[in-house]
Amino acid sequence: MDRIAIEGGNPLFGDIPVSGAKNSAIKLMAASLLTSEPVRLTNMPRLADTRLLGRLLQRFGCGISESDGPDGQQTLLHTPEITSSFAPYDLVRQMRASFNVLGPLLARTGHAKVSLPGGCTIGARPVDLHLKALEALGAHIDMHEGYVFAQAPRGLKGGDITFPFVSVGATEHALMAAVLAHGTTVMHNSACEPEIVDLADCLNAMGAKVSGAGTKTITIEGVTSLKGTDWAVVCDRIEAGTYAVAAAMAGGEVRLTRVRPDLIAVLLDKLVEAGCEITRGDNTVTIKRGAGRLRPVDLTTDVYPGFATDLQAQFMALMTLADGESVIRETIFENRFMHVPELGRLGADISVSGGEARVRGVERLKGAQVMATDLRASACLVIAGLAAEGETTVNRVYHLDRGFENLEGKLSACGANIRRLKGDSPVEEDE
Ligand code: UD1
Repeated sequence: MDRIAIEGGNPLFGDIPVSGAKNSAIKLMAASLLTSEPVRLTNMPRLADTRLLGRLLQRFGCGISESDGPDGQQTLLHTPEITSSFAPYDLVRQMRASFNVLGPLLARTGHAKVSLPGGCTIGARPVDLHLKALEALGAHIDMHEGYVFAQAPRGLKGGDITFPFVSVGATEHALMAAVLAHGTTVMHNSACEPEIVDLADCLNAMGAKVSGAGTKTITIEGVTSLKGTDWAVVCDRIEAGTYAVAAAMAGGEVRLTRVRPDLIAVLLDKLVEAGCEITRGDNTVTIKRGAGRLRPVDLTTDVYPGFATDLQAQFMALMTLADGESVIRETIFENRFMHVPELGRLGADISVSGGEARVRGVERLKGAQVMATDLRASACLVIAGLAAEGETTVNRVYHLDRGFENLEGKLSACGANIRRLKGDSPVEEDE
């Protein structure tokens, strides 16, 4: 199993290019199933998750080729015909978001059999909202032996969907299904994340009629077919935020490039509150941290545009060295504090009660062996390792490989002493 070893203490200086968003790329790949024409995605991150979804799409008859084009890394996806609508457990369990192929398969062929995604490490994460939304579009849903059987032999039809609470995945899933439905769909209490806007804009470029993405109410007028398109994946705000926090933790001056500063505005404000200097450009953000300890900052995770739950663990790592106590509240996922005991191994002083963590800043962290428990928690341990005295070894880094492209390359280019120790790397399900 691969590990990452970090010798802490080096400040970071240099540029870090931000990749395309994993959470957008995998939904756009699934959306390519909605058309018989080719879809070319540019600014594509090369990640374990995109490879895994690629393998699943190939089972449905999708031809996939990856190359370096004039606009950087690109993936061409082409499904002239859906040759199978079956998504087996072995592939779906490894990545929850692959469940979102159900909607496009159903919309295009009228039937699908897709495994339930199964449990994972950051809470129960059911898919009830996804299934209710598809039922509201006229799908007939049955469940046996861990599989969802969905049918809409005469096609899906437009409907009114009100999500009881905000779900990114369910909003995206319903959106992908509704674009080919007969009639108009209105989705209330939709998620507003930038990845949803990216998906809706790409679907519109394919000929869909979606309006209101990025607001709570999304309206979709169904069309009979979609065409192919070229689409550039939006930048990864979670990757960008992770490196911004890394720079704040290690000290120095880092410029993020190929980024949209507006997408990480709340995080940048928190970094300023903590004592960092932030300079926003058009497609760049510079994070500078001088000598002296950071100030403690409280935060509560929330749906976009609130503080992203996917950056909570990283910010907590930063607060372990702040000069005082900060309170971090997690409101999106239960059980998303699994990084706390691991940070404790590095000398952090954190107590958790329900969805609230109290982080009492210490003067120094000390390197140790730690274990990554999920994707974002892994990034938090790397960040802590950058500032810890001595060597930190992060085990189970296959979690990191799911969502961070060339993490050790990007950090070492800025002066971090970080290296990968090779080994076998099994894949498990989380985000
Ligand atoms: C997506 C992101 C993930 C991020 C999360 C919240 C991807 C691939 N993953 O996950 O990185 O942390 O948004 O920003 O885009 N829920 C239900 N029933 C459902 C669906 C969700 O109870 O049918 C619950 C979940 O358990 C969770 C909450 O709703 O507590 C929010 O989950 P959701 O927004 O759906 O997250 P994902 O789409 O899984």
